[in-house]
Amino acid sequence: MDISIIGTGYVGLVTGTCLAEIGHRVVCVDNDEEKIAVLKSGGIPIYEPGLEDLVKRNTAKGRLSFTSRLEEGVERGTVVFICVGTPPLEDGEADLSAVERVTRKIAEAANSYKLIVEKSTVPVQTGMWIEKTIKIYNNRQNAEFDVASNPEFLREGTAVLDFLHPDRIVVGVTNDRAERLLRELYAPIIERSFVCPIHSPPSASGGCPSSEPVPFLVTDIQSAELIKHASNSFLAMKISFINAISDLCDKVGADVTKVAEGIGLDKRIGASHLNAGIGFGGFCFPKDLQAFVRIAEKSGCDFSLLREVERINNSRIDVVVNKLKAHLWILKEKTVGVLGLAFKPNTDDIRFAPSLEIIKRLQREGVNIKAYDPKAMEKAKRELEGVTFCNDPYAVAEGCEALIIATEWREFKTLDMARIKTLMRRPFILDGRNIYNREELVRLRQMGFEYVGMGR
Ligand code: UGA
Repeated sequence: MDISIIGTGYVGLVTGTCLAEIGHRVVCVDNDEEKIAVLKSGGIPIYEPGLEDLVKRNTAKGRLSFTSRLEEGVERGTVVFICVGTPPLEDGEADLSAVERVTRKIAEAANSYKLIVEKSTVPVQTGMWIEKTIKIYNNRQNAEFDVASNPEFLREGTAVLDFLHPDRIVVGVTNDRAERLLRELYAPIIERSFVCPIHSPPSASGGCPSSEPVPFLVTDIQSAELIKHASNSFLAMKISFINAISDLCDKVGADVTKVAEGIGLDKRIGASHLNAGIGFGGFCFPKDLQAFVRIAEKSGCDFSLLREVERINNSRIDVVVNKLKAHLWILKEKTVGVLGLAFKPNTDDIRFAPSLEIIKRLQREGVNIKAYDPKAMEKAKRELEGVTFCNDPYAVAEGCEALIIATEWREFKTLDMARIKTLMRRPFILDGRNIYNREELVRLRQMGFEYVGMGR
């Protein structure tokens, strides 16, 4: 099928590339000429495991192309995905001006049938506004069109895998024609009939289940829109729930990792998003939670439950600072190392990363900060002032009175801890992500480390 992707950011690029990979002809559009130039020259503007190879391969095969001309993009696609950003406004509501702008331009450019699919994370009823906007601005051509909602559930760091092997595909439609087109578009994924570029041959253990068809859920547009915000809010709620339990564990001497394991083994609850720590960040959970609360308020519904989820998450920073104070007494003029700046591993994304909040807060308390991250250093340098950025964890450890593990990068689990101990001024580890298992932390204590986790 011929597909246009409007907005080649994180979601647009992953969506466009994966749709090309399963056999469609895709053109990705972005008004950022520099970004398009990078993509045309074979580079990619973001770090996402596996994506660069797929972009190169599909560009070479002629199935994936890039343009900064929206009219050209719209002309070439029968299915047009809107993937532009919906950043938060000051009051937490989503800024939909980019969605409205591209919708108008799509309407003005369309001179044949188009299925317009909203993939950006948007508040409920955006689809209705897209439909109205198209009707008004396409008045000259009078082209036929349908509007659909198809929320994305990609996680940064595993986005390619998530796209190609989703738990479910949700489409909100108003008629059979739109449903048929979307079913056809996703058929290789639903039937798992494409050759998986990540695991070949597919293996269940590698996250590539090979047999069961992917559930394809068809709803009305409003329900599909709600599913996106409700899913993210539910996952955020799980994290805040386990973080509240983690505070209780600290007080009563229990181990939150064991409590989470015990809860998560119940199939009705599930193990995912039950890792206690310094809280959730990234460009999705914090903003989607706020936006969802605003949507509910505007509709006259009380969603104070989600406000509490947010409050617990924000309080994580105090928990970390208080743990440090309990061990270091006075923070002023102490040197603290931070391992991990990205909001989670396998990404260079630092947006709303709790590590950055912790650093800024400690700096206000007069702490000297040294930091390292395997991928996010460049972005962090632009965001943080007065931090000594180091080339590796050992350089961070040198002269520190505490080492905070803020992102659970795999390489932090395999550090030469004997070396770290000799480098630190005081061997104190604050494990903000509980990366060590019980035996490992017993060993750390035997080596002479003071170890403090989150809720254990
Ligand atoms: C999240 C959702 O998981 C995706 O399904 C959704 O598509 C995406 O938002 C989006 O709306 O675009 P993402 O933000 O990439 O994806 O990352 P997650 O892996 O869900 O983690 C989010 C944050 O929660 C991270 O800061 C992570 O460290 C934290 N987290 C996650 C925890 O603190 N504990 C956990 O158990 C899991």
